[in-house]
Amino acid sequence: MRGTLIICPDAESVSREAAQRVVSAVAEKLADPRATFSVALAGGSTPRRLYELLAGSPYRSKIPWARVHFFWGDERLVPYDHAESNFRLAHEALLSHVPLQRENIHPISTQIPADQAAQAYEQVLRAHFGRWGTPRFDLVLLGVGADGHTASLFPGSAALAEKERWVMPHSLGVNQPARVTLTLPIINNARRVHFLVTGKPKASALRAALESGPLPVQRVQPKKGELLFLVDAAATGKLEGIRIEVPVASEAQT
Ligand code: 6PG
Repeated sequence: MRGTLIICPDAESVSREAAQRVVSAVAEKLADPRATFSVALAGGSTPRRLYELLAGSPYRSKIPWARVHFFWGDERLVPYDHAESNFRLAHEALLSHVPLQRENIHPISTQIPADQAAQAYEQVLRAHFGRWGTPRFDLVLLGVGADGHTASLFPGSAALAEKERWVMPHSLGVNQPARVTLTLPIINNARRVHFLVTGKPKASALRAALESGPLPVQRVQPKKGELLFLVDAAATGKLEGIRIEVPVASEAQT
């Protein structure tokens, strides 16, 4: 099995486990007084509860927000107040509730064509992480789709083969908003990649995610970083035959 699997009883405890791990990762990095913490947020519906938890007690007071920088793993090119905007999700559930400077929030531009938006976001990353060398996020949060996509890296997408560019556009067809996504070289250079996977409909995708293969989710393999799957019991429905290593009992519960 790839990475570490943490099985929680339900979606709420997945979110709490994830919140605790965000707090620990931030504390570990920011023990160095000169350091900042960079996180790439996931979209979709699963992380909403995590974001809400981080915005409230007891997590909110444990994070030195001024030293945390927020990025997005992917975005739909819709206005920031659109129901499908990943910026909106994060803003509503988290960013508008914590003491953050505008300089700490690094959204993907959504009012320009996708290729330009991808190039512009690469410049945003260069401005923060430096012009040379691959950015190293402290944490990349991801979800997984039933087809094995993650961020906006879809099966068969040209972005999967990308080795140079840090950000790529993706089109899902005429009736869908264009998307922009981080590429695998960036995701796989992160210190931590945490997947949040909940619910029975995700069982097949989770099974695939835990094994090696060509699907986008299977290609996420941090080179020198932690790969963690925080999942609920419902999502583990199809794991027969996979040797599950739950690290310690206390890690599976909160
Ligand atoms: C998005 C994400 C996408 C998401 C998965 C899971 O913005 O939709 O990029 O990769 O994480 O599709 O989505 P759910 O959490 O809604 O199941």
